[in-house]
Amino acid sequence: MNMVAKAPVMRVRPSPPIAMLAELTHRCPLGCPYCSNPLELVKGQDELSAAEWIDTFRQAAELGVLHLHLSGGEPAARRDLTELTKAAADFGLYTNLITSGIGLTEKRVTELADAGLDHVQLSIQGSTEAMADRVGNYRGGYARKMAVAGWVTATGVPLTVNAVCHKQNMDQIGDMLDLAVRLGARRIEVATVQFHGWAEKNRAALMPTREQVECTTALVEDARKRLEGVLVIDYVVADHHARYPKACMGGWGSSGLNVTPSGRVLPCHAAESIPSLEFQTIRDASLSQIWYDSSAFNSYRGDDWMQEPCRSCARKHIDHGGCRCQAMALVGDAAATDPVCVFSPHHAALAQQAGRDAASRQTDFVYRGGAGGACPDRCMEYSA
Ligand code: SF4
Ligand code: FES
Repeated sequence: MNMVAKAPVMRVRPSPPIAMLAELTHRCPLGCPYCSNPLELVKGQDELSAAEWIDTFRQAAELGVLHLHLSGGEPAARRDLTELTKAAADFGLYTNLITSGIGLTEKRVTELADAGLDHVQLSIQGSTEAMADRVGNYRGGYARKMAVAGWVTATGVPLTVNAVCHKQNMDQIGDMLDLAVRLGARRIEVATVQFHGWAEKNRAALMPTREQVECTTALVEDARKRLEGVLVIDYVVADHHARYPKACMGGWGSSGLNVTPSGRVLPCHAAESIPSLEFQTIRDASLSQIWYDSSAFNSYRGDDWMQEPCRSCARKHIDHGGCRCQAMALVGDAAATDPVCVFSPHHAALAQQAGRDAASRQTDFVYRGGAGGACPDRCMEYSA
């Protein structure tokens, strides 16, 4: 009998990552009710040291990472932020500071620019003081953000405004675009809330209506023409009202990775919500070993893991089946089709729930960090 040996399954070696998001800390003075940080926040004493972060940046540069996003929590809560930025810049990484602005002073902004900071992404929670300070749960936050924007543009570091929008502030998007122009931003990211973590807790207070989404989409399209050459507008649509899901992270483990404050290396910010996965830290293994060889990163690479209807769908290399964490949260199976997709058997239920949440009159938020305050260990002073 002629036996034909079964060829071993050859996994194509993934490309190196392009971007790394370094969550330097989960500490933050704000309490945004849609924060992408996990419900279990890492405490200050468990954060990586400056030396550990710097070694992680070195490894990232060697691995092929080009863009380093310095994020949090509020990265300015790290007193060594300038030292970390300088080290990353010296490794040749393009450094982007993602900040609420709170904890930055004019002196610190100048020091960061001198250290080689390439870009600042400043969040705003509304176009008015009342809205912004209520959403962020931080009185005086709006005024400080306005000052920070001025300090940043004075250094010549390019500024992006990050406007997270939802049911309660979507009607201010037009004013937020104008505000971004007045602040000297070159780009604005109009990002509709993604319903993970804290946002999932606040669905009824945050979910926009379909009419609001359509109105915002039309407004953005019009503004793109009106502000061409003045302001670049990136728009992240509300996927609960969409027909197809977003290509979350551009595909699992394909182009980016996240490192948590305690050094856990994740394929996306919400990956720890998938209980079957085990994650290593940069204290356990090198960044390269984790990227190429860890089971967590390899679990949803390619399309071998896909189930129907994704497996035989023409869009499977466009959206990669959507978001694994959303599938986990809403269907209880991270390998399922993201229920945002019209082909998912769970899509109708998702759309009905989104409609109920959008129609809700609830306005109160469960702020990040809960009643005890936004910062998990209240260990930072925010003085000018
Ligand atoms: Fe994307 Fe899967 Fe839906 Fe096809 S079935 S559009 S691959 S999520
Ligand atoms: Fe984890 Fe989308 S947030 S895959």
